Amino acid sequence: MNHDTSIIEKINELKVKRGAIILAHNYQLGEVQDIADFTGDSLELSRKAAQTDAKVIVFCGVHFMAETAKILSPDKTRAFKAAHPGLPVVAYVNTSAEVKAESDICCTSANAVRVVESIDADAVLFVPDKCLGAYLASKTNKRIISYSGFCPTHHRILPEDILRSKKEYPDAVVVAHPECSMEVIALADAVESTSGMLRYVRESSAQGFIMCTERGLLHRLKIENPKKEFFNPTPLNICPNMKRITLEKALWSLEDMKYEITLPQEMIEKARKAIEGMIAL
Ligand code: 13P
Repeated sequence: MNHDTSIIEKINELKVKRGAIILAHNYQLGEVQDIADFTGDSLELSRKAAQTDAKVIVFCGVHFMAETAKILSPDKTRAFKAAHPGLPVVAYVNTSAEVKAESDICCTSANAVRVVESIDADAVLFVPDKCLGAYLASKTNKRIISYSGFCPTHHRILPEDILRSKKEYPDAVVVAHPECSMEVIALADAVESTSGMLRYVRESSAQGFIMCTERGLLHRLKIENPKKEFFNPTPLNICPNMKRITLEKALWSLEDMKYEITLPQEMIEKARKAIEGMIAL
């Protein structure tokens, strides 16, 4: 029995003992995705977490978009709101609970256009991702006033990487995540969330795909589409926060019930309104 097999067996035993479900984001390490009961994008994982009656949820994903969340402290959100009084705040789901508590509604990449369009105002404040904000401005009739955060991993994918990849793989289709810069998005054939990318590739007749997102998604893409080819436009599309989760850490969380998320009740109540508003849409 190799090391990983024994870890996986222990995880499976403890999952039953604890009444736990394991959720993993599409960017997790392949071996972590493989132990999950459900792998998906941010929206699918939120829905799954809301629906499950499991006693314990082991959530393999980022705590939040760490660097941006650090910059975008709740105080900065408050200051941003104060500078634009009266405007509704839409918060990307990759924000801390404190930021969500300051927001009217959450969104993910998969439903951002729908969420913004559902708001009964001509202008909205959007936190924290200026790239997703710019994409939303191009796709809706709303005035989007974005905070100036961004995803460092998607930001490392440059237009020149796409141009070089297109030269190398001229028949491949370019699929970009909306957290990429507008310059990259302008070169893409399709712009999709991670679940949208999985669907797009499944339905496309193309054989090759240049995937402008975190490379963890390729694990599922390859399993689901064994005859198609996938290319990373850069070696730098690795999210250091997503990759902090390993099989061992998933096991320890079940063994010792550690890393539990604890939040003040008042904050939970305030943040819940923004999350539930999104889930209800
Ligand atoms: P999805 O909502 O497409 O899963 O995107 C998540 C993400 O990019 C996290 O930074």
